[in-house]
Amino acid sequence: MNETKRTFWDERAQLNETAGTNDFMLKNMEKELLLRRVKPGASVLDIGCGNGSTLIALAGQLGCTGLGLDFSESMLDLARAAAEAGLDKILAFRHCGVQNLPQDLGLFDCAITERCLINLDSEAEQHTAFSSIMLHLRPGGRYFMIEGSIDGFHRLNEQRALFGLEPIGPPWHNLLFNEEAVRGWASAECVLEEIDSFASTYYLLSRVVYARLAQDSGEPLRYDSPINTIACKLPAHGDYGPTRLWVWRRA
Ligand SMILES: C[S@@+](CC[C@H](N)C(=O)[O-])C[C@H]1O[C@@H](n2cnc3c(N)ncnc32)[C@H](O)[C@@H]1O
Repeated sequence: MNETKRTFWDERAQLNETAGTNDFMLKNMEKELLLRRVKPGASVLDIGCGNGSTLIALAGQLGCTGLGLDFSESMLDLARAAAEAGLDKILAFRHCGVQNLPQDLGLFDCAITERCLINLDSEAEQHTAFSSIMLHLRPGGRYFMIEGSIDGFHRLNEQRALFGLEPIGPPWHNLLFNEEAVRGWASAECVLEEIDSFASTYYLLSRVVYARLAQDSGEPLRYDSPINTIACKLPAHGDYGPTRLWVWRRA
C-alpha cells in the first residue's frame, strides 16, 4: 500500500462533495452514465468508493444494494455519514485496499471503479487488481471500469497544441492506462464488451476551447465555467481526454 497516496486521499476527504475530484461536472457525468447502465436492484461492488456518492445514487434511485471499499478511513467516514439517511440498510462500507480484496466479499451483479486503479504504482499492480475485481462478479456480471487513458491525454494535448496551449499531464498520484495494454487484459473469462469515451466532447470544449479563451482573456480557469456547464450536457464525439468507461463481462 502506498502511504503517501493514502495520506493524500485522507486529506482530500475534507473537501467532502469534491473529495474524489475537483472536476465535479465530470464526476456527475460518470454518475449519470452509471445510473443509465446499472440495472435496477443490482448488487454493486464499488472499489475506491470515496465519499460514496455513486453508490448512494444507485441505491436511492435504482434500489441497488452495495458494498463500498476504500483504503482511506476518512473517505469511508464521509460515505457512512452520507448513507445514514435510510440507506445504511442496503449499503455497507469497508476498509480495504484494492490490492488485497478479501475472499469473503461474495459475488456481485456488477463492480464499478471511478478513477481508482490509476492510483496504483505499476501496470502489473493494475492488471492484478483488475483480475481480482473480475473474480467478485457472478457469471454474466459486468465491471464498469471508469479509469484514465494516457493515449487519450496525448490526443487531447495534440488538439491543445493546435491552439497554442501547453500540454497538460496527469497528477503525480496517477499512472494512466496504456490502451493497448488494457485490451490485452481480455481473456475467455474476462470479455471486453465496449469502450465508451463518454467525456470526449466535454474534454475538447473544457480543456481546449475554454482553456484557449481563458488564456486569451487572462482569466483563471474554473471547473464551473459556462462552457463546461454546456459541454457536460452534449453527446460524446471523438476519443479525447483521459477518462473513459471500459465495460467488462465475466463469462
Ligand atoms: C479519484 S478518487 C474517486 C472516489 C470515488 N470513486 C468518486 O468517484 O468520487 C479515488 C478513490 O480511490 C481510493 N483509492 C486509491 N487507491 C486505493 C487503493 N489502493 N485501494 C483502495 N482505495 C483506493 C481513494 O481513497 C479515493 O477515495
